[in-house]
Order: sequence, then C-alpha cells, then structure tokens
Amino acid sequence: MTTRPAHVAAVPGPATSSPDSLAPFAPGASLAWSDGAVSVVDQRALPHETRWLRLETVDELVDAIRSLAVRGAPAIGLAGALGVALSAHRHTTPDGSTDEAAVRADAERIAKARPTAVNLAWAVARVAEHIPEGPDAVLHAALAAIDEDIATNRVCAVGAADLVEGLLPGRPLRVLTHCNTGRLATAAGGTALGAIIELAARGRIAEVLVDETRPLLQGARLTAWELQEAGVPYRLCPDSAAAAAMSRSLVDCVLVGADRIAANGDTANKIGTYALAVAAARHGIPFVVVAPESSWDPELPDGSGIVVEERAAGEVTTLAGVRIAPEGAGVFNPAFDVTPHELITAVVSEERVLRPTAAAPKVPTPDGAVRELRKPPSEVLAGQSRDLYLRGWMPGTSGNLSVRLPGAAPRALITGSGLDKGDLGPGDMVLVDAFTGQAAGPAGDGPRPSAETAIHAAVYRSVAEAGAVVHAHSPYATALARRIGAEDHLSWLPLRDLELLKGLGLADPSRTDLPVFPNWPDVARIADDVAGHLAGFTTAPPALLITDHGITVWGRDLAQARNRLECVEAMCHLLLLTGESDPVRLAV
Ligand code: MRU
Repeated sequence: MTTRPAHVAAVPGPATSSPDSLAPFAPGASLAWSDGAVSVVDQRALPHETRWLRLETVDELVDAIRSLAVRGAPAIGLAGALGVALSAHRHTTPDGSTDEAAVRADAERIAKARPTAVNLAWAVARVAEHIPEGPDAVLHAALAAIDEDIATNRVCAVGAADLVEGLLPGRPLRVLTHCNTGRLATAAGGTALGAIIELAARGRIAEVLVDETRPLLQGARLTAWELQEAGVPYRLCPDSAAAAAMSRSLVDCVLVGADRIAANGDTANKIGTYALAVAAARHGIPFVVVAPESSWDPELPDGSGIVVEERAAGEVTTLAGVRIAPEGAGVFNPAFDVTPHELITAVVSEERVLRPTAAAPKVPTPDGAVRELRKPPSEVLAGQSRDLYLRGWMPGTSGNLSVRLPGAAPRALITGSGLDKGDLGPGDMVLVDAFTGQAAGPAGDGPRPSAETAIHAAVYRSVAEAGAVVHAHSPYATALARRIGAEDHLSWLPLRDLELLKGLGLADPSRTDLPVFPNWPDVARIADDVAGHLAGFTTAPPALLITDHGITVWGRDLAQARNRLECVEAMCHLLLLTGESDPVRLAV
C-alpha cells in the first residue's frame, strides 16, 4: 500500500460544523487525499452546512462530480486526478501488482463524468501517464497537480488584478461575477474570484455584484459564502438583473472563469456568461476571463466544437425540492454557454494576457459589418458623477456635468436637476440645446435639466473647443472661492509658478488668473457674467470659480475637464497649505 505523503493530513468523517472546520487540511483547501480516500468539501451542502465528503470508490467520486458535490473546472480536474490515484490503489494487490487495464478504464470513466470542462480530461490524462509506475506515483502526480493549481491560481489572480487596475485606474470598483470561481472551484485561492479578493486586498473593490447563477445557484450559495468569509462587500443579484445593473452604471468590470477556451479565445463558462458578455459589450464594460492554461483546448480552433453539458430537467422544474413548473413541462437546461472571443476584453492565465480584440468591444450589425461599441455619453456622465460624488466633490445633489454631443446641431446632455449624484444612471441625463440651455428632448415625465444649465450653455456658446463642462464643489477650490470672492463684483484668483498650471493647457503655463464671480441668486445673471467674461478672451483659462459656490471647468471631453478640475483643486489646496491664499497676498 502507499504511504501517505507527509503534508496530507488525516480527514475526519462528514461533519456539520462552522466554516473554520473547512481547514482540516491546508487553509482554504477544497479537496485532499486522506487515509486512502479522496476528500472534498461537499459544495451541495453550502452555505447551510460545511462538511467534508469522503469518497472511497471511483463510483462515489464520479457521482460527486456529476452531482456537483465537487465542481468548478480546476477542482473537478484535481478530483479526477485523485480519483485515478484512488483507482490505482484499489486495483493494486498487497504484493504490489496493479491491474493497469482496470485503472485505465476507471480513468476513462472519470474523464467523461462531465464533458465541458477540459481540465477534467487534462488532469486525468496527466496522472494516468504514471499508472505503470504504481499507485504512489499516480498519487504523487495528483498531489503535485494540486500544489501547482494553488500556485497557478495565485499568479492568475495577481495578473488579472493588475490588468483590471490598469484598465480602470483610480477608484474603488464595482465588479460583477458569475457562478463560483473561488477557492471551492479550485484547489485553493480561486481564479476570477481570487482576482476579486486580490483587488479587495488592494483597496480597489467598492462592491461585488454576485449573479445568483440559476439554476443551481453557485453564486448565491458559494460565491456569496466565500466573499463573506473573505470580508469583501457584495450584493446578490438575480441573473436577469445584471444587464440592468450595467445600464445603471453599477458595474465597472465583469470577471468570470472558464471551463474550456478554444484556440481563438472563444470561452465556455457557466450558462449566463454569454448574456453577460453581450450586455457588457453594449455598455462598454471590460469583460475579463481568468483561467489557468489547463482550461485552454488548443485542439479546438473555435468555440463551435465545445460540447455543452445538458443537465436534468429537474434542476429547472423544481426549486429547493419543490416543483415550480407544471408536470410535463419541457426544459432546455444547458450547463454552459460559449462566449465569442470578440466580446472578451482579455483572458488572463498564469502565462499570458490574451486580448482577443485589442480595440473596444465590437458587435456584428445586421448588415454583416462590425461596429465598435463605445460607452454612450449618458453612461460616461453617470460614471463621472458617481466618481466625483464618491470623491466628496459633489456632495448630495450638488454639482452638475454636461457633454456636447457630436453633430452640427448644438446639443448637449446634462445631469438632471435635484438628483443624488452618487446614484445617477444614464436615464437621469437630459438633452438640451447646448447654446441656450433649453430642454431639447421629447416632453415627458423625465428629469428637468440641471438648474445651472445656463452656465454650461454660456461656456459652450463662448468656447468652441469645449466638449464637456464639470461643475463641482471640491473643498479647496470652494474654500478659496469663499475666501476671496465678493458678493457683488468679480474677483480674481491669481495662480503663479505652479507646476500644476501645465495641466490647464494655457498659452503661458507659468501664470493665470481665474475669475471668481458673485453668486447671484438668479443663475441666469451668473451665466451672463460668465458669457461677458469669456467674450473678452481669445483663449480664456478653462476654469472659473463662484463665490461660496465651487468651481466650473471645461475641456475637449469629460476626461480632460476632470483632469483640469483635479489640477485646479490641487493648486487651491497648495495655496491654502502654504498660506499664499491670504487675500492680501492674492491681490492681482
Ligand atoms: O457547473 P459548475 O458549477 O462546475 O460550473 C463552473 C463554472 O462554470 C466556473 O465558472 C468555471 O468552472 C470556472 S471555476 C474556476
């Protein structure tokens, strides 16, 4: 008989206990070899019960894979590898002779337990090579695969977190994930969920939206459980609400795993993944697949050859054991779908980051052409206002943003009046005439344009290059505007010899004076002041202050306007820190 490798601990029998007891093996382990049997965390029982399942025969192991007691592409591969070791031990006599044909037959059976995840056949084939060397060699190969998976997942998670940080720099993110790709789905650590937990450790996660993942609820039962265990903030979301969440700018990025990836990047994953990718492309949201190299199937040129597992009708017609559909209802229950590579922003493995489409997501149009999908301006506005709100620069309903729309007609989209800036969606933007500020969309019950639209219109009328205007109540600029502004006449904020002046795109980047307008109760009067001031310049500095009332900045697009806002705010902060904001010293 084989001797147990030193690092493989004994396992207690099935037990009902707290999550802490999930670590009789290495912390965070989801499967192990113990005392001549395979032990797996029984994922069917979670989150109510945390127990290990001891599998002593190949039949039990195959049943555990089919019934999803052990699940997730890497985990079933590793369970399969341990299953071959189990078979090798069962078919070896005390004098050390192994019935290799019987072990190979078992290996074949195990490899076919579920058809879609390529990891299963891959891991089984890998350890089966050691059958002639005896059961200990098979076991050691399986345990090596487990150790390798743990290390691989770590590299994948860090690589994917780096990629996401690069794609979406600067602010805590709202990430959406599907199914379960965490430690339960792997030997430990997880792939896409590992990346999310890594991002959380870096302080980059505001919230994870967890698709419940019908019909077997791997998201609701397992991913939620893992995130809770890791202390990462999350909300559960019906699968059917994911696209709506994207349309309301509640999702910055989608991260999912994979069961099989074809040579061209087409990716099979849990049913519902394709719908997420379509919705993400519609909204210009990065869609990232995180999976080890063992999930790639280079033999398949594209996803059309991937066999998708069909599962029992009962998974759909019943809910928690209760029938929910009429007797005799027909059922379509594929366990997976295939996402075409052109909808995938990146596939991250331990070895590479593949960008199937280097440019923005593209979708075919009915006439056969391929159209690049860009984020609609209303979504960009909503995203920026949420950002500035989170930054504390648009507290409550304060602040407003607008973008000019392309085209000959002067049209702009502006944030609706009186709305909470932390909670804006694309539907909260109002179409206006960019030069007059009058509402230009169909009359209806929708929001009214911002009460300060007239100031935006004054900028658009006067500055031909202005493509976006941001009005915020960032604290330092607002403090300076209060300190030096007057109630009834124009004042000036001199900015001299500050490196950050270069961020304003001025002809002379060493100096400028920003106007500080009186905060007339009648906004139209402020707008007239602004228009009058801008008429006096060929190129005015792209920012102005209003006494007690924050800052207004513009640029060719929202990104540039936002950059300029950051620069002016930082300069005001510097002046306040260095004492140069004294009104006497500021006299122009
Ligand atoms: O049927 P399941 O739960 O095994 O499906 C699992 C998935 O689709 C996962 O997303 C995939 O296997 C990746 S797990 C790291």
